[in-house]
Formats: sequence, C-alpha cells, structure tokens
Amino acid sequence: MNDFKVTKMKRLLIREFESADFDAIHSFAADPAVYRHMEWGPNTEADTHAFLERCREQRLESPRLFYERAIVLKETGQLIGSSGIRIRDVGHRNGDFGYTLDSRFWGKGYATEVARELVRFGFEDLKLHRIYATCRPENLASARVLEKCGLKLEGHLRENKFVRGVWVDSLLYALLEQDYANL
Ligand SMILES: CC(C)(COP(=O)(O)OP(=O)(O)OC[C@H]1O[C@@H](n2cnc3c(N)ncnc32)[C@H](O)[C@@H]1OP(=O)(O)O)[C@@H](O)C(=O)NCCC(=O)NCCS
Repeated sequence: MNDFKVTKMKRLLIREFESADFDAIHSFAADPAVYRHMEWGPNTEADTHAFLERCREQRLESPRLFYERAIVLKETGQLIGSSGIRIRDVGHRNGDFGYTLDSRFWGKGYATEVARELVRFGFEDLKLHRIYATCRPENLASARVLEKCGLKLEGHLRENKFVRGVWVDSLLYALLEQDYANL
C-alpha cells in the first residue's frame, strides 16, 4: 500500500501539495536561510510552479516512486514545509528522504517528527530495505535530526555536488530495516 493521502502525527500532518499552496511554498523557497544548505534555490516563481507541477505528476505515476508532500500544522492547517521520500532503486529496495521547514518553525522538533514518519513510511509501507539521507557537514541541525531518528553516519562524501558554482561535501547517513526493527 503506497498511495495514501494524509498522515497524521502528533502535531503535524503530511498531505499532498495543492496549487493553492503556492504562496506558502514560495515564501520559504526564496528564503536564503532555508536554501543555504540545499541544492535548489532561490526559487523564482517559475521554479515554484514547476515544483508543484512535478508533485502533481508524481501522484499520477504508477508505480509511484517519489512522495514529495506538504508538512502542515495539524491545529491550524498552516503549511510549514516540504518533505520527500523517494524509491531510488526498486530491485535493491533503496530509498532516500529529505525535509525543509519555513525558518519561523525551526527548533520545535518538527523536522524530527517528520523524519521519523518518513522512515516509518519507507520501511513499513514502501517495504524498503535501506533508507539514506545526505546533508551538508555544516548543516548541524539536519545531521542531528538524522541521528535522532537512528540513522548511522556512513561517510563523508567529498565534493559530490556542485551547488551555485561551488563544489560541496555531504555526509551520508543510513538505516537498514533490521536497524529500524530494533530502534
Ligand atoms: C534542518 C531543519 C529541517 C531542522 O528542522 P527543525 O524542526 O528545527 O529540527 P528539530 O527541531 O527536529 O531538531 C533540530 C536538532 O538540531 C539541533 N540543532 C539546531 N541547530 C544546531 C546547531 N547549530 N548546532 C548543533 N545542533 C543544532 C537542535 O538542538 C535539535 O536537536 P535536539 O533535539 O537534540 O536539541 C531546518 O533547519 C530546515 O528546514 N533547514 C533548511 C532546509 C534544510 O537544511 N533541510 C535539510 C537538508 S539536508
């Protein structure tokens, strides 16, 4: 089963993006504090429209490989970020995930709540064997989120990405299904 619509967590929901989400997404996708450690950004309006279109296309894929969805405050319905988990290799049951929050909502444990749900979804619903995530070494908050979710540091990838004209490093974290079963 991998075609769910809304996942409820303690304080948050993960749901599919809608075209009405444009303003909320665009405001954080154009914020330098938010895209500083990301490959994308700053988003132009065309970039944000293209992002929403990609999300719409993903929903129509069969089988669906990429789940890029909105992070929403359960109490108010406010969109506060974006989350994604993707089946990278069907045969080897590998996937990866990521998350981005509007900077007004950092430091409240929301990314950890989302990451735990993505890991759960990846192993329990998508039946992955290995789930990994990367972050920039200087992105201490993201590395901490991955560690809190039980992912193990597997390596430091040197200059594996060329972002806005500069070669940058990544840390590689991963969790196996047997690690997840023992968390
Ligand atoms: C990374 C990001 C998702 C974290 O979101 P968040 O909701 O603030 O994360 P949480 O509150 O769940 O956890 C953050 C943890 O990092 C710690 N942390 C934050 N800044 C830190 C810093 N500069 N140094 C060390 N630890 C730090 C927090 O104390 C917390 O750990 P704790 O619970 O042990 O105290 C958010 O900063 C973000 O969206 N950044 C921009 C996009 C991005 O970088 N996405 C990830 C790409 S890999």
